[in-house]
Amino acid sequence: MSWEESTRQKMLHLKLPTDPRWVGIAEMQIEDILVDHAYCEQKAASSCISLIVRFNDLEELVDTLTPIVAEEWGHFERVMEQLRKRGMKFGPQRKDEYVAKLNEFVRKGGSRAQQLTEYLLMNALIEARSCERFKLLSKHIQDAELQKFYYELMISEAGHYVTFIELARTYQDPEKVNHRWQEWLNYEAEILKNMELRGDRMH
Ligand SMILES: [Fe+2]
Ligand SMILES: [Fe+2]
Repeated sequence: MSWEESTRQKMLHLKLPTDPRWVGIAEMQIEDILVDHAYCEQKAASSCISLIVRFNDLEELVDTLTPIVAEEWGHFERVMEQLRKRGMKFGPQRKDEYVAKLNEFVRKGGSRAQQLTEYLLMNALIEARSCERFKLLSKHIQDAELQKFYYELMISEAGHYVTFIELARTYQDPEKVNHRWQEWLNYEAEILKNMELRGDRMH
């Protein structure tokens, strides 16, 4: 791992770097990647909307997430534009095994603050992993326009990652958040290690 890679890994705290073979096979299936990516953006927007609806009394959370909904939907639009200009087809959503596995780790019950922490940390994790993958795409694929596209999105998702962690620490004891965050990171590394490497999924 290069210096830059290891630094980035630490910044995002991810416990397992993406298999280096992923970017090569993803590039060969870029239409599938773009379709899957569009749905990642849709899910990111939808998940922020759900948090706003569910935690409507938390003013800072509502005010922080409202512009992120618009940003994520803007990303969706941009992915669609990339698909359309390449004559590629959008299509139905594919099974998202990664998010399904993360959902299994969400601790049910507990206080409202604990539940909120779970959702915020799960969102932070998806942002961190997306950010890592966008960086790989931006650095290694041939298509110059997509390189730039993924570079820009990587910066945006890194900002969201920080926002989710900060929100979690706003509404829950930061020590508890940090402890649970480590558990989430370990779990994510474990599921990724056991998931089939496929080039038609963003995760
Ligand atoms: Fe996004
Ligand atoms: Fe995001």
